[in-house]
Amino acid sequence: MKKILFASSEAVPFIKTGGLADVVGSLPKYFDRKQFDVRVILPKYACIDQKLKAKMKRVADFTVKLGWRNQSARILKAKADGIQYYFVENEFYFAGERPYGEIYQDVEKFAFFSKAVLEALDKINFLPDIIHCNDWQTGLLPVFLCEEYRAKEDYRNIRTVFSIHNICFQGRWILHEVKDITGLREEVFTMRGIEAYGESNYLKGGIVYSDAVTAVSETYSKEIMTPEGGMGLDGALRSCSHKISGIVNGLDYEVFHPKKDAYIAAPFDVKTFAANKPKNKAKLQEMMGLPKEKDTFLIGMVSRMSDQKGFDLVAYILDEFLEKEKVQIAVLGTGESRYENMFRHFEKKYPKKLSAMIGYSESAAHQIYAGADAFLMPSLFEPCGLSQLISLRYGTVPIVRETGGLKDTVEPYNKYTNEGTGFSFAHYNAHEMADMIRFAMEVYYTQKQNWNQLAARGMKKNFSWESSVRKYERLYGCLCN
Ligand code: ADP
Ligand code: GLC
Repeated sequence: MKKILFASSEAVPFIKTGGLADVVGSLPKYFDRKQFDVRVILPKYACIDQKLKAKMKRVADFTVKLGWRNQSARILKAKADGIQYYFVENEFYFAGERPYGEIYQDVEKFAFFSKAVLEALDKINFLPDIIHCNDWQTGLLPVFLCEEYRAKEDYRNIRTVFSIHNICFQGRWILHEVKDITGLREEVFTMRGIEAYGESNYLKGGIVYSDAVTAVSETYSKEIMTPEGGMGLDGALRSCSHKISGIVNGLDYEVFHPKKDAYIAAPFDVKTFAANKPKNKAKLQEMMGLPKEKDTFLIGMVSRMSDQKGFDLVAYILDEFLEKEKVQIAVLGTGESRYENMFRHFEKKYPKKLSAMIGYSESAAHQIYAGADAFLMPSLFEPCGLSQLISLRYGTVPIVRETGGLKDTVEPYNKYTNEGTGFSFAHYNAHEMADMIRFAMEVYYTQKQNWNQLAARGMKKNFSWESSVRKYERLYGCLCN
Protein backbone atom coordinates (compact mmCIF):
# COMPACT_ATOMS: atom_id res chain seq x y z
CA MET A 1 0.00 0.00 0.00
CA LYS A 2 1.46 3.34 -1.03
CA LYS A 3 0.85 6.27 1.27
CA ILE A 4 0.16 9.62 -0.35
CA LEU A 5 -0.31 12.97 1.37
CA PHE A 6 -1.78 15.89 -0.56
CA ALA A 7 -0.64 19.24 0.86
CA SER A 8 -2.78 22.12 -0.31
CA SER A 9 -3.99 25.57 0.68
CA GLU A 10 -7.58 24.69 -0.23
CA ALA A 11 -9.94 21.76 -0.76
CA VAL A 12 -13.71 21.37 -0.85
CA PRO A 13 -15.72 21.04 1.34
CA PHE A 14 -13.49 22.95 3.78
CA ILE A 15 -12.25 26.00 1.89
CA LYS A 16 -12.50 27.10 -1.73
CA THR A 17 -11.47 30.12 -3.76
CA GLY A 18 -11.15 28.34 -7.11
CA GLY A 19 -10.61 25.14 -9.04
CA LEU A 20 -7.66 24.02 -6.88
CA ALA A 21 -10.17 23.29 -4.12
CA ASP A 22 -12.32 21.21 -6.48
CA VAL A 23 -9.30 19.20 -7.59
CA VAL A 24 -7.83 18.48 -4.14
CA GLY A 25 -11.30 17.81 -2.75
CA SER A 26 -12.13 15.22 -5.39
CA LEU A 27 -9.04 13.57 -6.91
CA PRO A 28 -8.08 11.66 -3.69
CA LYS A 29 -11.44 9.85 -3.77
CA TYR A 30 -10.73 8.21 -7.08
CA PHE A 31 -7.45 6.40 -6.39
CA ASP A 32 -7.50 2.62 -6.21
CA ARG A 33 -8.04 2.22 -2.47
CA LYS A 34 -6.43 -1.20 -2.44
CA GLN A 35 -3.15 0.28 -3.58
CA PHE A 36 -3.19 3.85 -2.34
CA ASP A 37 -3.94 5.37 1.04
CA VAL A 38 -4.46 9.01 0.08
CA ARG A 39 -4.88 11.69 2.74
CA VAL A 40 -4.97 15.48 2.62
CA ILE A 41 -3.50 18.19 4.83
CA LEU A 42 -4.76 21.79 4.87
CA PRO A 43 -4.33 24.88 7.02
CA LYS A 44 -7.08 25.22 9.59
CA TYR A 45 -8.27 28.68 8.63
CA ALA A 46 -10.46 30.51 11.10
CA CYS A 47 -12.88 31.14 8.21
CA ILE A 48 -13.68 27.44 7.67
CA ASP A 49 -17.38 26.82 8.32
CA GLN A 50 -18.11 26.29 12.01
CA LYS A 51 -20.01 23.06 11.34
CA LEU A 52 -16.96 21.55 9.66
CA LYS A 53 -14.61 22.80 12.38
CA ALA A 54 -16.77 21.19 15.02
CA LYS A 55 -16.00 17.75 13.58
CA MET A 56 -12.22 18.11 13.84
CA LYS A 57 -10.40 16.14 16.54
CA ARG A 58 -7.03 17.02 18.01
CA VAL A 59 -4.15 14.70 17.11
CA ALA A 60 -0.89 16.36 18.16
CA ASP A 61 0.71 19.56 19.43
CA PHE A 62 4.26 20.60 18.75
CA THR A 63 6.54 23.52 18.01
CA VAL A 64 7.80 24.44 14.55
CA LYS A 65 11.16 26.11 14.31
CA LEU A 66 10.82 28.62 11.51
CA GLY A 67 14.03 30.63 11.20
CA TRP A 68 14.55 32.28 14.60
CA ARG A 69 10.89 31.89 15.51
CA ASN A 70 9.36 29.04 17.45
CA GLN A 71 5.72 28.71 16.46
CA SER A 72 3.18 26.40 17.92
CA ALA A 73 1.21 24.01 15.75
CA ARG A 74 -1.71 21.78 16.47
CA ILE A 75 -2.80 19.01 14.12
CA LEU A 76 -6.46 18.08 13.93
CA LYS A 77 -8.22 15.52 11.81
CA ALA A 78 -11.64 14.92 10.27
CA LYS A 79 -13.06 12.74 7.55
CA ALA A 80 -14.90 14.03 4.52
CA ASP A 81 -16.36 11.83 1.83
CA GLY A 82 -14.35 8.88 3.16
CA ILE A 83 -11.03 10.74 2.92
CA GLN A 84 -8.87 11.43 5.97
CA TYR A 85 -8.06 15.13 6.27
CA TYR A 86 -5.54 16.71 8.60
CA PHE A 87 -5.42 20.39 9.53
CA VAL A 88 -2.58 22.56 10.74
CA GLU A 89 -3.78 25.03 13.33
CA ASN A 90 -2.04 28.20 14.39
CA GLU A 91 -4.25 31.04 15.47
CA PHE A 92 -1.80 33.75 14.48
CA TYR A 93 -1.20 32.63 10.89
CA PHE A 94 -4.61 31.30 9.94
CA ALA A 95 -6.83 33.99 11.44
CA GLY A 96 -8.57 36.28 8.99
CA GLU A 97 -11.74 36.24 6.96
CA ARG A 98 -10.16 34.74 3.85
CA PRO A 99 -7.49 32.10 3.30
CA TYR A 100 -5.16 34.51 1.53
CA GLY A 101 -4.16 38.04 2.50
CA GLU A 102 -1.26 40.35 1.83
CA ILE A 103 1.67 38.63 0.16
CA TYR A 104 4.17 39.66 2.85
CA GLN A 105 2.00 37.83 5.40
CA ASP A 106 1.26 34.90 3.12
CA VAL A 107 4.91 34.06 2.47
CA GLU A 108 5.49 33.56 6.18
CA LYS A 109 2.18 31.82 6.71
CA PHE A 110 2.80 29.23 3.99
CA ALA A 111 6.44 28.74 4.93
CA PHE A 112 5.06 27.84 8.34
CA PHE A 113 2.43 25.55 6.83
CA SER A 114 4.98 23.68 4.69
CA LYS A 115 7.33 23.15 7.56
CA ALA A 116 4.53 22.21 9.95
CA VAL A 117 3.36 19.51 7.51
CA LEU A 118 6.83 17.94 7.49
CA GLU A 119 7.14 18.26 11.23
CA ALA A 120 3.74 16.59 11.69
CA LEU A 121 4.39 13.39 9.75
CA ASP A 122 5.92 11.24 12.45
CA LYS A 123 3.62 12.77 15.07
CA ILE A 124 0.45 11.80 13.24
CA ASN A 125 1.96 8.45 12.38
CA PHE A 126 1.57 8.88 8.64
CA LEU A 127 4.92 8.83 6.90
CA PRO A 128 3.98 9.02 3.24
CA ASP A 129 5.80 7.62 0.24
CA ILE A 130 4.77 10.70 -1.71
CA ILE A 131 3.85 14.22 -0.69
CA HIS A 132 1.84 15.80 -3.47
CA CYS A 133 2.21 19.59 -3.25
CA ASN A 134 0.02 22.13 -5.03
CA ASP A 135 0.85 25.66 -6.18
CA TRP A 136 3.19 28.18 -4.60
CA GLN A 137 1.71 27.94 -1.12
CA THR A 138 3.35 24.52 -0.76
CA GLY A 139 6.41 25.32 -2.89
CA LEU A 140 8.77 25.43 0.09
CA LEU A 141 7.76 21.98 1.27
CA PRO A 142 10.11 20.10 -1.09
CA VAL A 143 12.80 22.68 -0.23
CA PHE A 144 12.53 22.08 3.52
CA LEU A 145 12.36 18.34 2.89
CA CYS A 146 15.60 18.29 0.88
CA GLU A 147 17.42 20.79 3.03
CA GLU A 148 16.43 19.86 6.54
CA TYR A 149 14.56 16.58 6.78
CA ARG A 150 16.33 14.14 4.47
CA ALA A 151 18.82 13.39 7.22
CA LYS A 152 16.04 11.85 9.30
CA GLU A 153 15.84 8.11 8.71
CA ASP A 154 12.04 8.07 8.40
CA TYR A 155 12.02 10.89 5.88
CA ARG A 156 14.76 9.64 3.61
CA ASN A 157 12.53 7.91 1.07
CA ILE A 158 9.75 10.47 0.84
CA ARG A 159 9.31 11.68 -2.74
CA THR A 160 7.52 14.85 -3.82
CA VAL A 161 5.22 15.74 -6.69
CA PHE A 162 4.57 19.40 -7.33
CA SER A 163 1.45 20.36 -9.32
CA ILE A 164 1.20 23.72 -11.03
CA HIS A 165 -2.41 24.88 -11.15
CA ASN A 166 -1.55 28.46 -12.02
CA ILE A 167 1.90 29.82 -12.78
CA CYS A 168 0.60 33.36 -12.48
CA PHE A 169 0.82 33.16 -8.69
CA GLN A 170 4.40 32.45 -7.62
CA GLY A 171 4.78 33.62 -4.03
CA ARG A 172 7.52 36.15 -4.78
CA TRP A 173 9.08 38.16 -1.98
CA ILE A 174 12.21 39.98 -0.90
CA LEU A 175 15.11 37.56 -0.81
CA HIS A 176 16.65 38.47 2.52
CA GLU A 177 13.27 38.54 4.24
CA VAL A 178 12.48 34.99 3.16
CA LYS A 179 15.97 34.03 4.30
CA ASP A 180 15.06 35.49 7.67
CA ILE A 181 11.64 33.83 7.75
CA THR A 182 12.81 30.36 6.79
CA GLY A 183 16.33 30.17 8.16
CA LEU A 184 17.30 28.16 5.07
CA ARG A 185 20.98 28.21 4.10
CA GLU A 186 22.49 30.76 1.67
CA GLU A 187 22.75 28.36 -1.29
CA VAL A 188 18.97 27.98 -1.41
CA PHE A 189 18.70 31.65 -2.31
CA THR A 190 20.73 31.43 -5.48
CA MET A 191 19.78 30.90 -9.11
CA ARG A 192 20.04 27.15 -8.65
CA GLY A 193 17.57 27.35 -5.80
CA ILE A 194 14.54 29.52 -5.15
CA GLU A 195 15.92 32.82 -6.42
CA ALA A 196 14.40 34.32 -9.58
CA TYR A 197 14.97 37.86 -10.83
CA GLY A 198 16.49 38.94 -7.51
CA GLU A 199 13.56 37.74 -5.43
CA SER A 200 12.74 34.53 -3.67
CA ASN A 201 10.11 32.54 -5.52
CA TYR A 202 8.17 29.77 -3.77
CA LEU A 203 6.82 28.28 -6.99
CA LYS A 204 10.34 27.95 -8.32
CA GLY A 205 11.25 26.16 -5.10
CA GLY A 206 8.54 23.61 -5.81
CA ILE A 207 9.75 23.19 -9.38
CA VAL A 208 13.43 22.82 -8.58
CA TYR A 209 13.30 20.69 -5.43
CA SER A 210 10.47 18.26 -6.22
CA ASP A 211 10.97 14.86 -7.85
CA ALA A 212 8.25 15.38 -10.43
CA VAL A 213 6.29 18.39 -11.65
CA THR A 214 2.85 18.22 -13.20
CA ALA A 215 0.71 20.86 -14.85
CA VAL A 216 -3.06 20.53 -14.96
CA SER A 217 -3.36 19.96 -18.71
CA GLU A 218 -1.11 18.73 -21.49
CA THR A 219 -1.18 22.02 -23.39
CA TYR A 220 -0.49 24.06 -20.27
CA SER A 221 2.53 21.89 -19.46
CA LYS A 222 3.98 23.00 -22.81
CA GLU A 223 2.82 26.63 -22.63
CA ILE A 224 4.61 27.23 -19.32
CA MET A 225 7.90 26.25 -20.92
CA THR A 226 7.60 29.13 -23.40
CA PRO A 227 8.47 32.79 -22.75
CA GLU A 228 4.83 33.75 -23.49
CA GLY A 229 3.34 31.33 -21.00
CA GLY A 230 6.06 30.83 -18.39
CA MET A 231 5.64 34.14 -16.59
CA GLY A 232 9.38 34.31 -16.06
CA LEU A 233 9.82 30.69 -15.01
CA ASP A 234 9.94 29.12 -18.48
CA GLY A 235 13.74 28.84 -18.32
CA ALA A 236 13.64 27.12 -14.93
CA LEU A 237 10.98 24.76 -16.27
CA ARG A 238 12.82 23.99 -19.49
CA SER A 239 15.92 23.11 -17.56
CA CYS A 240 14.01 20.37 -15.77
CA SER A 241 11.68 19.39 -18.59
CA HIS A 242 12.58 15.70 -18.02
CA LYS A 243 10.44 15.64 -14.89
CA ILE A 244 7.45 17.66 -16.17
CA SER A 245 4.20 16.20 -17.45
CA GLY A 246 0.67 17.41 -18.11
CA ILE A 247 -2.31 15.60 -16.59
CA VAL A 248 -5.69 17.10 -17.33
CA ASN A 249 -8.01 17.68 -14.38
CA GLY A 250 -11.11 15.62 -13.99
CA LEU A 251 -14.43 16.68 -12.61
CA ASP A 252 -16.08 15.18 -9.57
CA TYR A 253 -18.89 13.36 -11.36
CA GLU A 254 -20.63 12.73 -8.05
CA VAL A 255 -20.92 16.44 -7.36
CA PHE A 256 -21.53 17.62 -10.91
CA HIS A 257 -24.18 15.12 -11.82
CA PRO A 258 -27.07 16.70 -13.76
CA LYS A 259 -29.39 13.80 -13.00
CA LYS A 260 -28.83 13.90 -9.25
CA ASP A 261 -28.18 17.61 -8.78
CA ALA A 262 -30.29 18.88 -5.88
CA TYR A 263 -29.43 22.50 -6.71
CA ILE A 264 -31.16 22.58 -10.08
CA ALA A 265 -34.85 22.93 -10.93
CA ALA A 266 -35.17 19.96 -13.29
CA PRO A 267 -32.47 17.28 -13.07
CA PHE A 268 -31.78 15.57 -16.38
CA ASP A 269 -29.56 13.28 -18.41
CA VAL A 270 -28.82 13.11 -22.08
CA LYS A 271 -32.22 11.51 -22.79
CA THR A 272 -34.27 14.08 -20.86
CA PHE A 273 -32.05 17.01 -21.76
CA ALA A 274 -34.31 18.40 -24.50
CA ALA A 275 -37.37 18.29 -22.25
CA ASN A 276 -35.72 19.64 -19.11
CA LYS A 277 -33.34 22.28 -20.44
CA PRO A 278 -36.24 24.73 -20.96
CA LYS A 279 -37.37 24.21 -17.36
CA ASN A 280 -33.88 24.93 -16.08
CA LYS A 281 -33.62 27.91 -18.35
CA ALA A 282 -36.92 29.31 -17.10
CA LYS A 283 -35.76 28.83 -13.51
CA LEU A 284 -32.49 30.56 -14.27
CA GLN A 285 -34.27 33.52 -15.88
CA GLU A 286 -36.52 33.76 -12.85
CA MET A 287 -33.56 33.58 -10.46
CA MET A 288 -31.71 36.31 -12.34
CA GLY A 289 -34.78 38.50 -12.93
CA LEU A 290 -34.55 38.17 -16.71
CA PRO A 291 -37.68 37.93 -18.88
CA LYS A 292 -38.74 34.31 -19.41
CA GLU A 293 -38.03 34.17 -23.12
CA LYS A 294 -37.60 30.52 -23.94
CA ASP A 295 -36.22 31.10 -27.41
CA THR A 296 -33.63 33.76 -26.62
CA PHE A 297 -29.99 32.61 -26.66
CA LEU A 298 -28.87 32.64 -23.04
CA ILE A 299 -25.15 32.86 -22.26
CA GLY A 300 -23.91 31.95 -18.77
CA MET A 301 -20.69 32.96 -17.03
CA VAL A 302 -19.49 31.73 -13.61
CA SER A 303 -16.05 32.99 -12.83
CA ARG A 304 -13.51 34.81 -10.76
CA MET A 305 -13.58 38.27 -12.30
CA SER A 306 -9.96 38.76 -13.24
CA ASP A 307 -7.90 39.50 -16.33
CA GLN A 308 -7.01 35.80 -16.57
CA LYS A 309 -10.61 35.00 -17.40
CA GLY A 310 -10.82 37.34 -20.39
CA PHE A 311 -13.15 39.95 -18.92
CA ASP A 312 -11.42 42.76 -20.76
CA LEU A 313 -12.57 41.18 -24.03
CA VAL A 314 -16.09 41.07 -22.67
CA ALA A 315 -15.80 44.73 -21.60
CA TYR A 316 -14.77 45.68 -25.09
CA ILE A 317 -17.84 44.32 -26.87
CA LEU A 318 -20.54 44.19 -24.22
CA ASP A 319 -22.31 47.47 -24.89
CA GLU A 320 -22.58 47.02 -28.63
CA PHE A 321 -23.37 43.34 -28.32
CA LEU A 322 -26.22 43.86 -25.89
CA GLU A 323 -27.63 46.70 -27.94
CA LYS A 324 -27.72 44.77 -31.20
CA GLU A 325 -28.19 41.10 -30.46
CA LYS A 326 -31.14 38.99 -29.39
CA VAL A 327 -29.35 37.58 -26.36
CA GLN A 328 -29.46 37.24 -22.60
CA ILE A 329 -26.41 37.01 -20.37
CA ALA A 330 -26.41 35.62 -16.80
CA VAL A 331 -23.24 36.30 -14.83
CA LEU A 332 -22.13 35.03 -11.43
CA GLY A 333 -18.80 36.04 -9.95
CA THR A 334 -16.67 38.26 -7.77
CA GLY A 335 -13.26 39.77 -8.19
CA GLU A 336 -11.82 42.98 -9.52
CA SER A 337 -14.14 45.88 -8.81
CA ARG A 338 -13.85 47.35 -12.31
CA TYR A 339 -15.47 44.19 -13.70
CA GLU A 340 -18.04 43.97 -10.95
CA ASN A 341 -18.98 47.60 -11.65
CA MET A 342 -19.05 47.05 -15.38
CA PHE A 343 -21.69 44.35 -14.95
CA ARG A 344 -23.66 46.48 -12.48
CA HIS A 345 -23.65 49.28 -15.05
CA PHE A 346 -24.80 47.17 -17.99
CA GLU A 347 -27.39 45.43 -15.88
CA LYS A 348 -29.00 48.84 -15.33
CA LYS A 349 -28.65 49.81 -18.96
CA TYR A 350 -30.00 46.52 -20.39
CA PRO A 351 -32.15 45.01 -17.60
CA LYS A 352 -33.90 42.62 -19.97
CA LYS A 353 -30.68 41.31 -21.41
CA LEU A 354 -28.06 41.16 -18.69
CA SER A 355 -28.21 40.13 -15.07
CA ALA A 356 -25.21 39.87 -12.79
CA MET A 357 -25.02 38.25 -9.39
CA ILE A 358 -21.94 39.68 -7.75
CA GLY A 359 -21.03 37.12 -5.12
CA TYR A 360 -20.31 33.48 -4.56
CA SER A 361 -23.06 30.89 -4.63
CA GLU A 362 -22.74 27.17 -5.23
CA SER A 363 -26.45 26.73 -5.90
CA ALA A 364 -26.71 29.67 -8.32
CA ALA A 365 -23.63 28.37 -10.14
CA HIS A 366 -25.27 24.98 -10.70
CA GLN A 367 -28.47 26.60 -11.98
CA ILE A 368 -26.45 28.65 -14.48
CA TYR A 369 -24.56 25.57 -15.71
CA ALA A 370 -27.88 23.75 -16.11
CA GLY A 371 -30.03 26.56 -17.49
CA ALA A 372 -27.86 28.48 -19.94
CA ASP A 373 -27.65 27.54 -23.62
CA ALA A 374 -23.96 28.42 -23.88
CA PHE A 375 -21.14 29.16 -21.45
CA LEU A 376 -18.60 31.86 -22.21
CA MET A 377 -14.97 31.45 -21.07
CA PRO A 378 -12.67 33.62 -23.19
CA SER A 379 -9.62 33.20 -20.94
CA LEU A 380 -6.33 34.93 -21.60
CA PHE A 381 -4.72 31.79 -20.20
CA GLU A 382 -6.33 28.77 -18.57
CA PRO A 383 -4.21 26.06 -16.94
CA CYS A 384 -7.11 23.63 -17.10
CA GLY A 385 -10.47 25.17 -16.32
CA LEU A 386 -13.27 23.25 -14.69
CA SER A 387 -16.18 25.48 -15.70
CA GLN A 388 -16.10 24.35 -19.32
CA LEU A 389 -16.08 20.72 -18.13
CA ILE A 390 -19.11 21.36 -15.94
CA SER A 391 -20.86 23.07 -18.86
CA LEU A 392 -20.20 20.15 -21.17
CA ARG A 393 -21.62 17.75 -18.61
CA TYR A 394 -24.74 19.90 -18.25
CA GLY A 395 -25.38 20.18 -21.99
CA THR A 396 -24.39 23.85 -22.04
CA VAL A 397 -22.22 24.54 -25.05
CA PRO A 398 -18.89 26.17 -24.16
CA ILE A 399 -17.53 29.12 -26.13
CA VAL A 400 -13.84 29.37 -25.24
CA ARG A 401 -10.49 30.69 -26.29
CA GLU A 402 -8.04 28.06 -27.45
CA THR A 403 -5.59 28.13 -24.58
CA GLY A 404 -4.34 25.60 -21.99
CA GLY A 405 -6.94 23.15 -20.81
CA LEU A 406 -9.68 24.83 -22.83
CA LYS A 407 -7.89 23.76 -25.97
CA ASP A 408 -7.53 20.21 -24.68
CA THR A 409 -11.13 19.72 -23.62
CA VAL A 410 -13.35 21.63 -26.06
CA GLU A 411 -13.48 20.36 -29.64
CA PRO A 412 -14.44 23.11 -32.08
CA TYR A 413 -17.74 22.70 -33.90
CA ASN A 414 -17.40 21.89 -37.58
CA LYS A 415 -20.53 22.90 -39.48
CA TYR A 416 -19.67 20.75 -42.49
CA THR A 417 -19.16 17.48 -40.66
CA ASN A 418 -21.39 18.30 -37.69
CA GLU A 419 -18.68 17.34 -35.22
CA GLY A 420 -17.30 18.98 -32.10
CA THR A 421 -18.49 19.94 -28.63
CA GLY A 422 -18.17 23.71 -28.50
CA PHE A 423 -16.94 26.90 -30.12
CA SER A 424 -13.44 28.24 -29.86
CA PHE A 425 -11.38 31.14 -31.15
CA ALA A 426 -7.62 31.40 -31.36
CA HIS A 427 -6.50 34.96 -30.75
CA TYR A 428 -7.03 37.07 -27.70
CA ASN A 429 -9.14 39.53 -29.61
CA ALA A 430 -12.58 40.88 -28.75
CA HIS A 431 -13.86 40.85 -32.33
CA GLU A 432 -12.77 37.28 -32.85
CA MET A 433 -14.67 36.38 -29.69
CA ALA A 434 -17.76 38.31 -30.82
CA ASP A 435 -17.68 36.61 -34.23
CA MET A 436 -17.52 33.21 -32.57
CA ILE A 437 -20.45 34.03 -30.28
CA ARG A 438 -22.42 35.16 -33.35
CA PHE A 439 -21.56 31.92 -35.13
CA ALA A 440 -22.84 29.97 -32.12
CA MET A 441 -26.01 32.06 -32.16
CA GLU A 442 -26.52 31.36 -35.85
CA VAL A 443 -26.39 27.62 -35.21
CA TYR A 444 -28.70 27.99 -32.22
CA TYR A 445 -31.27 30.11 -34.04
CA THR A 446 -31.23 28.48 -37.46
CA GLN A 447 -30.10 24.85 -36.98
CA LYS A 448 -31.68 23.78 -33.73
CA GLN A 449 -31.18 20.10 -34.42
CA ASN A 450 -27.44 20.57 -34.94
CA TRP A 451 -27.32 22.63 -31.76
CA ASN A 452 -28.97 19.92 -29.71
CA GLN A 453 -26.65 17.29 -31.15
CA LEU A 454 -23.71 19.51 -30.29
CA ALA A 455 -24.87 19.75 -26.69
CA ALA A 456 -25.53 15.99 -26.55
CA ARG A 457 -22.03 15.19 -27.83
CA GLY A 458 -20.59 17.30 -25.01
CA MET A 459 -22.73 15.54 -22.42
CA LYS A 460 -21.50 12.15 -23.61
CA LYS A 461 -17.80 13.01 -23.21
CA ASN A 462 -16.13 11.63 -20.15
CA PHE A 463 -14.28 14.20 -18.05
CA SER A 464 -14.44 12.32 -14.80
CA TRP A 465 -11.22 11.50 -12.90
CA GLU A 466 -11.28 7.98 -14.29
CA SER A 467 -8.41 8.29 -16.74
CA SER A 468 -6.35 11.08 -15.12
CA VAL A 469 -6.23 9.36 -11.75
CA ARG A 470 -4.58 6.34 -13.44
CA LYS A 471 -1.87 8.71 -14.72
CA TYR A 472 -1.16 9.96 -11.20
CA GLU A 473 -1.07 6.37 -9.96
CA ARG A 474 1.51 5.52 -12.62
CA LEU A 475 3.56 8.59 -11.76
CA TYR A 476 3.58 7.72 -8.06
CA GLY A 477 4.50 4.14 -8.97
CA CYS A 478 7.52 5.31 -10.99
CA LEU A 479 8.70 7.60 -8.19
CA CYS A 480 8.47 4.91 -5.54
CA ASN A 481 10.57 2.39 -7.44
P1 ADP B 1 -10.15 28.98 -11.43
O1 ADP B 1 -9.68 27.94 -10.49
O2 ADP B 1 -9.08 29.58 -12.25
O3 ADP B 1 -11.00 30.01 -10.78
P2 ADP B 1 -11.70 26.81 -12.65
O4 ADP B 1 -12.56 26.80 -13.86
O5 ADP B 1 -10.67 25.76 -12.55
O6 ADP B 1 -11.10 28.27 -12.52
O7 ADP B 1 -12.59 26.59 -11.35
C1 ADP B 1 -13.48 27.53 -10.88
C2 ADP B 1 -14.44 26.85 -9.94
O8 ADP B 1 -15.01 27.83 -9.07
C3 ADP B 1 -15.60 26.20 -10.66
O9 ADP B 1 -16.06 25.11 -9.88
C4 ADP B 1 -16.63 27.33 -10.69
O10 ADP B 1 -17.94 26.86 -10.86
C5 ADP B 1 -16.42 27.93 -9.33
N1 ADP B 1 -16.79 29.34 -9.19
C6 ADP B 1 -16.13 30.43 -9.66
N2 ADP B 1 -16.75 31.57 -9.30
C7 ADP B 1 -17.84 31.19 -8.59
C8 ADP B 1 -18.90 31.90 -7.92
N3 ADP B 1 -18.94 33.23 -7.94
N4 ADP B 1 -19.86 31.19 -7.29
C9 ADP B 1 -19.80 29.83 -7.28
N5 ADP B 1 -18.84 29.10 -7.87
C10 ADP B 1 -17.87 29.76 -8.50
C1 GLC C 1 -6.29 27.15 -11.31
C2 GLC C 1 -6.49 27.44 -12.79
C3 GLC C 1 -7.58 26.62 -13.44
C4 GLC C 1 -7.52 25.18 -12.98
C5 GLC C 1 -7.52 25.12 -11.48
C6 GLC C 1 -7.47 23.68 -10.94
O1 GLC C 1 -7.08 27.91 -10.51
O2 GLC C 1 -6.70 28.81 -13.01
O3 GLC C 1 -7.47 26.69 -14.84
O4 GLC C 1 -8.62 24.47 -13.50
O5 GLC C 1 -6.41 25.78 -10.96
O6 GLC C 1 -6.34 22.99 -11.39
